[in-house]
Amino acid sequence: MPHLRPYVSAVVRPIPITTREQRVEALDAAGHNPFNLPADQVSIDLLSDSGTGAVSVQQQAWAQLGDERYAGAESYYRYREALQEVVPYRHLLPVHQGRAAERVLFSALLDRGRISLSNTHFDTTRANVERLGAEARDLPAQELFDLDSDHPFKGNIDVAAVREVLDGPDGPRVGQILVTITNNGGGGQPVSMANLHEISALAHERGVPLILDAARFAENAWLVIRREPGYRTSTPLEVAREAFALADGAVASLKKDGLAPEGAFIGVNDDELADRCELDVIATEGFRTYGGLTGSTLEQLAQGLREVVTPEYLADREHEAAYLAERAHQAGVDTIRPSGLHGVYLNAGRLLPHLTPAQFPGHALACALYREGGIRCAELGSLYLGTLDEDGALTSPAPFELVRLALPRRVYDHSHLEYVGEVLAGIAKAPEAVPGYRMTENPPILRHFRCRTAPLTS
Ligand code: F0G
Repeated sequence: MPHLRPYVSAVVRPIPITTREQRVEALDAAGHNPFNLPADQVSIDLLSDSGTGAVSVQQQAWAQLGDERYAGAESYYRYREALQEVVPYRHLLPVHQGRAAERVLFSALLDRGRISLSNTHFDTTRANVERLGAEARDLPAQELFDLDSDHPFKGNIDVAAVREVLDGPDGPRVGQILVTITNNGGGGQPVSMANLHEISALAHERGVPLILDAARFAENAWLVIRREPGYRTSTPLEVAREAFALADGAVASLKKDGLAPEGAFIGVNDDELADRCELDVIATEGFRTYGGLTGSTLEQLAQGLREVVTPEYLADREHEAAYLAERAHQAGVDTIRPSGLHGVYLNAGRLLPHLTPAQFPGHALACALYREGGIRCAELGSLYLGTLDEDGALTSPAPFELVRLALPRRVYDHSHLEYVGEVLAGIAKAPEAVPGYRMTENPPILRHFRCRTAPLTS
């Protein structure tokens, strides 16, 4: 059967068509940091897949029924019912976005000197561990470090390495094991059910809470069905439920697989832990039946949670990501293999060998994509992950120099992605023309969001 996209546009948003001159000016004004660009200067926005998707007509219709009463609104009960179909925890608390869920749950599980072990902490997740004075330690499976291999589950956590930490002198300080599905910081790679079963058994044997960062729980379930023996005939809902059931709790931004512009949840089984989280949510987010979300958003989420686990939707998501990866390969640009679902990660280090990590090749490619085509995306390389001295000079590089082309859900069609491929091909024809960058303003934390840079003139 040829692939058929299971939806059409019902309402459209015009996008700006800009000239190269305008883009050069906009990039300059933005301190050469794509996060500083006004969106009306961006033609194709691949900065994030978070809260950037299109809602369905059903979600719009439900939003009209949003019940905005302060406590116990009807919308809350519809949201909770939909969430309980996927997430089998005794306590579910709504909050406004993923990082709020992290802040609340981690404050209850970690404090100064504790350690959080993960396959990879996402950037805000790491920040929410570190702000408590705790340590965020990444222990990804070794397969992650071979960008070109087609290993199906490069997102796994290294269970042997976790065991070693638990058995060693740091063991008593481990406050949580956090498994991110899919592994966003690690190329959007999935985590296998076999890996989740193994880490769950270990965590339970040692009495350490196992928490999922489940922002892309449906996409992980789909890649399990596609790649893991034993799950081929399972439904996405069955796989997602099994994954959640293996953990003691979860935080999840629903701006991704909730198919809505905002929302998240904290889910736990432990009554005492839930109680502490609830008090924090009431004090800082909103009452336990809305957590800072409007009734309309709760309705959109309830419907979104049902749409996101349909095989038709997930197969289309896979097809879209594979199509973009194929365009990149045809342009002569390597990507992390195999491609995940929420984005395509370009190997900028390989494309721009004339730039050293200290000249930020990933950032250089991201800026070139904007300058040449009005495409916005984010670097995942030494600018984000490297260590810099006070003058902004690189002292230790990231393991790879990557650029993430994140795919908003249900937004771009093949013609947009083809355009991205053409712009990439133009850059790849004369890669040596892409200038490196230096840091001009280097904030001490969350650098990539806030820094300013300038191109190097040779
Ligand atoms: N965890 C993961 C794995 C994420 O990818 C994100 C957000 C969060 C937590 C935080 O959720 O944004 O709702 O507060 N990722 C976005 C991205 C921002 O572009 O990858 P949030």
